[in-house]
Amino acid sequence: MTTTTATTAVTGAVGTSHTRIEGVAKVTGAARYAGELPFADLAHGWLVLSTIARGRVREIEADPVLRMPGVLAVLHHGNAPRVDADYVGMLGRPDPIAEAFQHDRVPFMGWPVALVVAETSEQAREAAEALVVHYEQEPHDIAFSAGRPGTYTPDGEGMRTEKGDLEAQLAASAHVVDAEYSTPEEHHISMEPHAATARWDNGRLEVVDSNQGSTWVADELAKLFSLDPSSVRVLSEHVGGAFGSKGLRIHQILAVMAATTLDRPVRVVMTRRQMFSLAGYRSPTAQRVRLGADPEGRLLAFDHQGHNLSSTVHEFVETSAAFGRPMYAADAHHTVSRVVRLDVPTPTYVRAPGEAPGSFAVESAIDELAEKCGVDPIALRVRNEPAVGPVSGLPFSSRNLLACFDEGARRFGWADRDPRPGLRREGRWLLGTGTAASAFPVLVAPSSAAVTAEADDTFTVRITAADVGTGARTALTLIAADALAVTPERVRVRIADSDFGPAMVAGGSMGTRSWGWAINLAARELREKLVPGGQIPPEGITARADTNEVVAALSQKERHSFGAQFAEVAVDTATGEVRVRRLLGIFAAGRIVNPLTARSQFVGGMTWGLSMALHEEAVRDQASGGLVSPDLAGYHVAANADVPDIEADWVADPDEDDPVGIKGIGEIGIVGTAAAIANAVWHATGVRHRTLPIRPDRVLLAGAGHGEAARA
Ligand code: MOS
Repeated sequence: MTTTTATTAVTGAVGTSHTRIEGVAKVTGAARYAGELPFADLAHGWLVLSTIARGRVREIEADPVLRMPGVLAVLHHGNAPRVDADYVGMLGRPDPIAEAFQHDRVPFMGWPVALVVAETSEQAREAAEALVVHYEQEPHDIAFSAGRPGTYTPDGEGMRTEKGDLEAQLAASAHVVDAEYSTPEEHHISMEPHAATARWDNGRLEVVDSNQGSTWVADELAKLFSLDPSSVRVLSEHVGGAFGSKGLRIHQILAVMAATTLDRPVRVVMTRRQMFSLAGYRSPTAQRVRLGADPEGRLLAFDHQGHNLSSTVHEFVETSAAFGRPMYAADAHHTVSRVVRLDVPTPTYVRAPGEAPGSFAVESAIDELAEKCGVDPIALRVRNEPAVGPVSGLPFSSRNLLACFDEGARRFGWADRDPRPGLRREGRWLLGTGTAASAFPVLVAPSSAAVTAEADDTFTVRITAADVGTGARTALTLIAADALAVTPERVRVRIADSDFGPAMVAGGSMGTRSWGWAINLAARELREKLVPGGQIPPEGITARADTNEVVAALSQKERHSFGAQFAEVAVDTATGEVRVRRLLGIFAAGRIVNPLTARSQFVGGMTWGLSMALHEEAVRDQASGGLVSPDLAGYHVAANADVPDIEADWVADPDEDDPVGIKGIGEIGIVGTAAAIANAVWHATGVRHRTLPIRPDRVLLAGAGHGEAARA
């Protein structure tokens, strides 16, 4: 027994830089990931994916493969356990990939058709590659474009907003921008591939996984396999990146099926190539933006039509058209999302779903309008700053967009900028600068947490949070320390175990806010339970809290984070190469919990935005329906040499409702970056690039180097 000093110690951990708690374990290899944790009697499953884009599996020649060394089973639609995918989970109906092995249909290239299980991973792979699958092939259609036949506006909330008479306001406008923008298919291939090990332990299913939410995955597995929720446990201690891809996926489902069939632990790991069809991706977008303004650049009309594709088996909407809703006041304000269903893998959430491609279109169009009006792009944004949500009519919880532009412009040296394009030359390089706004919704979801005062004068927090590489574990430690009024060294945060109870996933930029809120509540309840100088029993004293009620009681407001991004580029007129020389992002994104990891989060998002602007593009082969190069050799991402002087910082912007002041910073860093770079390329060359990525061939074709002449 010991006495507690909980209520007399220091505060102020939040807002102070703290290195990652698990950092040393990670860099020394002591931290084990889902695919490398040892298990006795472990068997290994290897996925076999379809080689056609549409049709049926006619026959699987399992027998020869079953005679290969070490092979234990070949699971497929003819022999796999049945599941019940007719349910609504935390994020809606499950992706129909959950029904792979339940029927013989093949809806896209790379659909799972078999799982070969063997004693070793190598044996499973050898056998999987030898497995002969016969198909009945049907013609496929993967050709995406705006408004092609079959395009529709989905039902459901937020697919269409209409305020005012758009055509009348466009007709009354002195300046009109009417432009089409497109972004390609983009993939969030995390460093750590998806991996899960499933095993039965005294009637309980335990899945060691790499995911964004262990409650979420446990709940889906329970529903899918018709199990009592209390008999499913999912753990996900360390996660090497997720970005929206790590929810319920086929690897967990097949690991459970195989572990059930064989009654031994089974691990299924996706290969990188398999991730390109199984992990989800960002749909290509085709967007039309129409802006109408008075002579001074005040918007009269705002219209954004966003198109994306989805698979034939699941509707996923990349809500690009949502970006402009909180951004700009306009008398007529219309936005709509449209989808077409094709024979392709199902797209999914990818960091800043909707906002990332949507901001490219809108923030480019705003720059085009500034050019037409002869108004500085920042001044134009100031002129169109709304007093309340332009579509919702709701007051903003806080809106510090202009403070971001002020601070960013000062640091970047924007005031000295000559707005005319195509004038600055340095050897063979043309130089330019550009800016764009960022925004991302601020949300919170119910979560539960338990905080224990231990007999050794430390504290243990238990919450089903996920640290997908963001530093969430460390942020939660700082939040708990402040709420307990102790130093972070006395706080141990345990995460990613579904037995800790329901909690929000690491998604929607709302993980830390949702979990932090629950921890704050539980810690405050614990402090009330603790008597100064009182005794702590060996099992400790625990307080639990959930935020169901406080979250439901939040008032209706327009809640967003904002930011201003600045880019300087150099364009090689001989090769068409675009080099980003400087990137600066200033954000108003709530109270910053851990400046060290927050900066890394912003810079990471901006780096991805740079990658989106200049490099990333998955190319689909019309003939086969598959990707031309589903690997990180062919799918080009920004590497160290592409990323220059890049800086992120923030202005004070605490959220008034959150107990810590948090808004959430997971996604906003990527929003607006591509537009800032595209606008800088225009400023350098005089040519607008409305198709991403801005590849050298596109720059050359568009005539870089002709400056003003190229615009004629
Ligand atoms: Mo994120 S794309 O909300 O996981």
